[in-house]
Amino acid sequence: MNKGNVAVLLSGRGSNFSAIVRASRAADANFTVRLAVSDRADATGLKRAARLGIPAHHVAPRAFADKAAYETAVCALLERERVELVCLAGYMRLVGPVLLSRFAGRILNIHPALLPSFPGLDAQRQALRHGVKVSGCTVHFVDAGTDSGPIIAQRPVAVHPGDDEEALSRRILVQEHRLYPLAISLFFSGRLQIEGRTVIVRE
Ligand code: GRF
Repeated sequence: MNKGNVAVLLSGRGSNFSAIVRASRAADANFTVRLAVSDRADATGLKRAARLGIPAHHVAPRAFADKAAYETAVCALLERERVELVCLAGYMRLVGPVLLSRFAGRILNIHPALLPSFPGLDAQRQALRHGVKVSGCTVHFVDAGTDSGPIIAQRPVAVHPGDDEEALSRRILVQEHRLYPLAISLFFSGRLQIEGRTVIVRE
């Protein structure tokens, strides 16, 4: 089987990155993870990459004149590995025009809430403060906004009485680790079609 080439962009812990790599190693997986890129030298995700045997790069935004130059350097790494899909997983930067145009319709993100509720930082805290009974996670295409692109897949997660941010985050994370690989395989199955804001999954 010809497998789709994935890159993961991260800034921190990298648990979604690990889940994606694990899923890519299943016998019937239709994608492979070619590399990880972190904008932070101290990201635990870089250590995970080393353990998993995935090439990983730290690209420091500060080493470049501006965001466009930084993203051009990231794109060079991705293009060298013939990356077809870029997966943001805890990547704490807004994607700029360079990455967006070179990978138009080929950048995904995971967010720990049921979008469009609670976009941006601290989604689990926002959900608890609002008092919702159900939250969850969302995988979506990335556009120029914050967590605003067309939604591919969502998983609900119950908020339990007495949940704090950590407990809710942990429960959501279990679902994130299942949902992200699923969305990636859907992407490479060629069954996703974007119509306006709606992502249609063709049978
Ligand atoms: C996850 O909760 C993800 O939804 C959010 O950032 C967190 C990253 O966690 N975008 P990890 O680095 O994948 O462990």
